Amino acid sequence: MARRRKGLSDRGTRHDAAYRRAKAEGKVARAVYKLEELDRRFRLLRPGRKVLDLGCWPGSWLAYAAERVGPEGLVVGIDLRPVELALPPHVHTAVADVTEIDPAVLVGRFGTFDLVASDMAPHTSGDRATDQFRSEELAFAALHVARGVLRRGGHFVVKVFQGPRFGELLAEVRTHFNEARALVPPSTRAASREQYVIGRGLRRGPAAEAASCDP
Ligand SMILES: C[S@@+](CC[C@H](N)C(=O)[O-])C[C@H]1O[C@@H](n2cnc3c(N)ncnc32)[C@H](O)[C@@H]1O
Repeated sequence: MARRRKGLSDRGTRHDAAYRRAKAEGKVARAVYKLEELDRRFRLLRPGRKVLDLGCWPGSWLAYAAERVGPEGLVVGIDLRPVELALPPHVHTAVADVTEIDPAVLVGRFGTFDLVASDMAPHTSGDRATDQFRSEELAFAALHVARGVLRRGGHFVVKVFQGPRFGELLAEVRTHFNEARALVPPSTRAASREQYVIGRGLRRGPAAEAASCDP
């Protein structure tokens, strides 16, 4: 008879403490604890804030951000997949590819944002170098959107599977934000190569850039 190993799910994958906690607390995804940890540490969210969530499906970050910003705030989520979770009216979601988004269109519709948070992850191919490459591409795309939609002083959080361009990404965030940090939240799986890069205080918002183009 096949032995059933302790800690393995029906699909044979090992579930960690964060997964089990999310299940027990009725959270949509374990990812919520990462945003919670980043928020606690870097004070990213508060009532009334406007948040853009890139790679928002299935919606645990949306639900957390919606609660933290409250009905005076706004949360906009974008993903390749439609979000089916029931969310309050101050949350708007759209199906789109973030690499093809024009930040000016978002600003035209919602105004500037206080926080851009990207938890985007590529479909894993099984090849580590390919996955890192795609993840870093998504992180640079998120940074491009963030620079286009954040107000001056706004914050940026991006998940990335650390690869050869990680140093370049951190350097770019350091260039555009007053403070740049890289961190692995405690609820991240031990075997994961994922990190979060945090930029606090955008040095130049879209309005400042437009002004600097004036003769
Ligand atoms: C780890 S999940 C996000 C989990 C989410 N933060 C939550 O808490 O529920 C990563 C998401 O990134 C999305 N994604 C990957 N590439 C994308 C792209 N180019 N544009 C938009 N979303 C993308 C995937 O569809 C996937 O839903």
